[in-house]
Amino acid sequence: MKSQDIRNAFIDFFKEKDHRFVRSSPVVPIDDQTLLFTNAGMNQFKPIFLGQKDADHPRAVNSQKCIRVSGKHNDLEEVGVDTFHHTFFEMLGNWSFGDYYKAEAIQWAWELFTEVWGLDKNRLWATVYHEDDEAFDLWPKVTDIDSSRVLKCGKKDNFWEMGETGPCGPCSEIHYFIGDDPGKQNAEGVNVSDAYWELWNLVFIQNNRLPDGHLEQLPAKHVDTGAGFERIVSIMQNTYNNYTTDLFMPIIKKTEELTGGSYGDNLIPFQVIADHIRMLSFSIADGGLPGNEGRGYVLRRILRRAARFGRMLDQHQPFIYSLVESLGDVMGDIFPEVVEKRSHIEKVIKAEETSFNDTLDRGLIHFDKLLKTVSGKIISGKAAFRLYDTYGFPLDLTQLMARENGLRVDEEGFNAEMTEQKKRAKAAGKFTTESKDLLWKIVSEGDDSEFMGYETLSTKSEIRRYAVQDSQIMVILDQTPFYAESGGQIGDTGMIKGDGIDLTVNDVKKNNDSFIHFCTGSIKEKAGGKVECQVDGEQRENIRKNHTATHLMHQALKLVLGDHVHQAGSLVHSDYLRFDLTHFEKLNPGQIREIETIINREVLVNNDLNVSVKSFDDAKKEGAVAMFGEKYGNHVRVVTVADFSKELCGGTHVDRTGDIGFFKIMEESSLAAGVRRIVAVTGPKAVEYVQTQAAALEAVQSQLNCGTDMVVERVDQLLTQKKELEKELKQRRKTGAAFNVKALVDSGEKVGDYSVVVQMTDAGSLDELKDLGDTLLGGLKSGVGVLGADGDKPMAVVVVSQNLVKAGIKAGALAKGIGAEMGGGGGGKPHLATAGGKDSEGLKSAMDKSFEIVEKAITGL
Ligand code: SER
Repeated sequence: MKSQDIRNAFIDFFKEKDHRFVRSSPVVPIDDQTLLFTNAGMNQFKPIFLGQKDADHPRAVNSQKCIRVSGKHNDLEEVGVDTFHHTFFEMLGNWSFGDYYKAEAIQWAWELFTEVWGLDKNRLWATVYHEDDEAFDLWPKVTDIDSSRVLKCGKKDNFWEMGETGPCGPCSEIHYFIGDDPGKQNAEGVNVSDAYWELWNLVFIQNNRLPDGHLEQLPAKHVDTGAGFERIVSIMQNTYNNYTTDLFMPIIKKTEELTGGSYGDNLIPFQVIADHIRMLSFSIADGGLPGNEGRGYVLRRILRRAARFGRMLDQHQPFIYSLVESLGDVMGDIFPEVVEKRSHIEKVIKAEETSFNDTLDRGLIHFDKLLKTVSGKIISGKAAFRLYDTYGFPLDLTQLMARENGLRVDEEGFNAEMTEQKKRAKAAGKFTTESKDLLWKIVSEGDDSEFMGYETLSTKSEIRRYAVQDSQIMVILDQTPFYAESGGQIGDTGMIKGDGIDLTVNDVKKNNDSFIHFCTGSIKEKAGGKVECQVDGEQRENIRKNHTATHLMHQALKLVLGDHVHQAGSLVHSDYLRFDLTHFEKLNPGQIREIETIINREVLVNNDLNVSVKSFDDAKKEGAVAMFGEKYGNHVRVVTVADFSKELCGGTHVDRTGDIGFFKIMEESSLAAGVRRIVAVTGPKAVEYVQTQAAALEAVQSQLNCGTDMVVERVDQLLTQKKELEKELKQRRKTGAAFNVKALVDSGEKVGDYSVVVQMTDAGSLDELKDLGDTLLGGLKSGVGVLGADGDKPMAVVVVSQNLVKAGIKAGALAKGIGAEMGGGGGGKPHLATAGGKDSEGLKSAMDKSFEIVEKAITGL
């Protein structure tokens, strides 16, 4: 059976049992900062389990993209080394939200395994939590499992928790014996030996783990199951190795083609690379990017690990990115993002491979040297840190290479060196607005946070609960006109007033589905009754303009730059909008102008915006653009601007494009490899921006005294002049510095009591030479100086001290004689004259003769 058919069989089986198919949520969870990556199918249902949200339908089925590389569930060490752990995997799951419970979950799992897929009952084992007698008794009752194959196990294996906090409960697992000889099975091997694979985990969610470690009972009981798709495929395809199934083989074959290596000869590198390309591609498709902190650093680590295994296949050029296409062939039908975003994924991976290539080689050499110096079995924390800091080797890569050489790394020492960087990474992964540790004061009971703000900016609401922390007051209302930050749009601001309540709302953020209003002001202890809520209308108006302009820009960017452009991030602020796009080059001024023109044309056409709610599938069919990493429910809000733009969006928008007024891009810059950032303004802010620009231009024009059309030319001229002057100044400084008058005069010869200085200089022009002559004259008390220079043309300057001028020696006459020697002429004032000639030869002979000429004149007095 092909993997696609196996997946479909699972989904169809549960659909027939009235389960509704729910799409996989992104692997990069944007609204749960307690998780770096989606690590289980149930993540997206957490608010339902916690009773914060109602389910659309009481039963669900899906195939969820999961990543386990950090945190509670982390299999990285095993990945690629064994054949059944992955960084990225698919989890098939069925869910009951307060509907059916243990009996059906167990019965259906068994029915699917043994009747639909025909797995051998004599290789299957079931485990239950040792305190869960109900599940233990149910197994032989609702299935035909041999009761000796139902085992009780402890908390470690049979009490499932999603993380440090959150929904959890006892679970029942189904394991499969993959050994050659079924006669060699025994209960002791389950959960211990690698010959028993855990295939399916049925979790009976009934508790919530609180931050203080306590378990609370949930309002309803739920079922959350997760089956390891890759392992099931491997059993169904009789390979007992996930990598040799049709899910991985096309990628491995492509790797063989690219590297010329053979999988059979070198299993681990091929397996690691095939695993890692899936994790990287899906993370990037869902909006992740390699970076130095948080999720980004996890991506970087995985890529570097893959690149290092590439070296084991003798690959020194980027090649991992070339595997994205094969991955698309394998998984594009169920997860089309990996095909739609292919060029972006490839570019990001290639850029990252390229930048690591150099350091990787140097790091490997360094590591080999290090191996020779290690005493004992431990690589010091300092050495591991050096590999990290200088060569970009993530700790787990160094650990892996250490293990390969029978060594280990002093992790504590490494961590000590890393404290600073670690703090930063941790800060990036921390939820700043989560208020789960707060003590909420309940004011009224019932549903909360119904959003009224599409239609109105003011409501009369009831406070459901509030909490006070330092000077901040957090309020949750039954209904609210305030938009809570999401989809890049910032939270609204405004006022909440009532009896004994006077609050300024500074921000609004979502915690799961509750809107938390972050306020300052005062609230009386027994807050109750209705409160007046008022959103700051001007701010909201600007936000609406910027949000609609963001949609227009998204489309304009695709039109001008191409279909590879996707929104990689966005901030819709009241003062500006910021848009991150996947594109590899700087936008040139022509492209920026074109984008502005297209958007302003849409503004001028003044089209109506149309907002509708429809099913996700209908919206996608109509070509609506969904965002990277956004999680959408079954019903989505579609914002349409005529036939120009159609996006899924929960934000607030203008009624007509003309309301935007005017659009202007302020900046374009590089954000990360393959991602550019644009900052733009609309409406009054855009007018203000253009006016500031115009005022600056006017000021420049008036200084230059020219019209707009001449400004560039005039500035060019000034810059050229400036450059020339700077050059000249530099030259003069150089010659001036080398020209030491006192030393010259001291070293000059004497004719009687008079000094005679004859010297070549570096002067570049006659003016410069005359300046030097003046300087010499200043230091020459009694005598004659002749300075030559071979600058633009051969030239000389003659200076005569005042007493000698009086005595009858004239610089002009001397210059004439020297000029004649130069093959030219000369003349000037009595104390300073110049001579010029034809060529350097003439200058040289004139300088040689100058002393004689001067001596003759003086002795002739
Ligand atoms: N949440 C459980 C798991 O991840 C079952 O889906 O194993």
